[in-house]
Amino acid sequence: MGIASNIHPLWYFTVFRDPPVHGYKNGGMLLYHSDFRTTLSFNNMNLNILTDKRILLGITGGIAAYKSAELVRRLREQGAQVRVVMTSAATEFITPLTLQVVSGQRVHTELLDSEAEAAMGHIELARWAEVILIAPATADFLAKLAYGHANDLLSTICLATVAPIIVAPAMNRQMWQAKSTQANYMRLQNWGIHCLGPAAGLQACGETGVGRMLEPMELVNGLINLFKPGPLAGVKVLITAGPTREDIDPVRFISNRSSGKMGYAVAVAAQAAGAAVTLVSGPVSLTAPVGVPVISVYNAQDMFEAVMAQVDEMDIFIAAAAVADYRPVQLATHKLKKQESQLQLMLERTPDILAAVAALPQPPFTVGFAAETNNLLDYARDKLQRKKLDMIATNQVGITGLGFDSDENALSVCWVDGSVELPRNSKLSLAYQLIEIITQRYQRRAKF
Ligand code: C5P
Repeated sequence: MGIASNIHPLWYFTVFRDPPVHGYKNGGMLLYHSDFRTTLSFNNMNLNILTDKRILLGITGGIAAYKSAELVRRLREQGAQVRVVMTSAATEFITPLTLQVVSGQRVHTELLDSEAEAAMGHIELARWAEVILIAPATADFLAKLAYGHANDLLSTICLATVAPIIVAPAMNRQMWQAKSTQANYMRLQNWGIHCLGPAAGLQACGETGVGRMLEPMELVNGLINLFKPGPLAGVKVLITAGPTREDIDPVRFISNRSSGKMGYAVAVAAQAAGAAVTLVSGPVSLTAPVGVPVISVYNAQDMFEAVMAQVDEMDIFIAAAAVADYRPVQLATHKLKKQESQLQLMLERTPDILAAVAALPQPPFTVGFAAETNNLLDYARDKLQRKKLDMIATNQVGITGLGFDSDENALSVCWVDGSVELPRNSKLSLAYQLIEIITQRYQRRAKF
């Protein structure tokens, strides 16, 4: 208990610790204050945060649905307006009438309901919500969300809304650990969908493990934290991500194995800390978090120009892209034909975007990435000084399962008078840790 107190409120439910769960080396889920007194005092400090907030509570079909009536009452005690949408499976566990009584509003269950469409149909509900909380969220509903299904009212609302979506998973521990559930959950997190829980403990099925829905008051506290300004509120962050492609001829290019996963994860973490994030992205097959504008670029020159056009506005610049260092001097206008046994390509350096930003008269707080195979910290320190960076995060490449095009990484982060090792973990967890370090150093610099 109390572990969460030294972690930023927004992050306490997304930092991974505790026992291994598929997909996360550091496993487990959430850290929260579940002892009653802490919850109460924590809550007293935040009395007005949910007042008049329009919360759409989605209830899906799990046994934890019996706690939803209590959840509605707790939310209303905080002054929130609550409207309830139930899946048909949820109505097997708790009646719409119960939720109508506690919410004081008609409960919505049908997608194709002519009466509802005339009054509060799916589009109106999607627009009305300031936040959508799905509690309990079953494995089936996580899968639906992760694949954009819209075959019932709740999933349709989730597609039609711009409001943040928060899920509170609840299921048997094996279902939670199933590879498919973990993959869906990771997919949702990468889109910026927030998760509260699940907690560990005794389950309705009689087993013990991770999969319990959080208690209503813990969910209320989670929501309160979401509405609080994060430590990077009002801070503008520009992030480069992915590879660049340097054309040789109309069909060939020089590039690298970067997937963009690290840069996109850093965008998720910076946004969760309250920053206004802009991504400049090379060609990747990733979806940016909701609310993060993406400037798509192709080659290093495009990326340089896009960054330079934005950077004056920015407070923090994080160069996570794997920019090609060289490009062909000449671009062949026709496909090069096979002729000799050898072909020589003349290459020239691409602009060093990171160095150019750090050399500006008033540079933002500038963070570089580096991939090295050996002597990580020596090379990192050298690069930090040479490029006049505020911070550099180095990862070791050449180890199977780490770095380029993988879901995991390990980072050595250093700055002028300090360093920290972030051991092997999912890129998303590392991104949260990195943003925490950047926030501390950035705030310290801002004070001087
Ligand atoms: O010098 P090196 O290429 O190892 O530096 C890596 C860092 O520099 C990364 O942060 C990368 O995004 C950035 N970089 C850049 N422009 C280049 C090459 C690298 O911004 N042309």
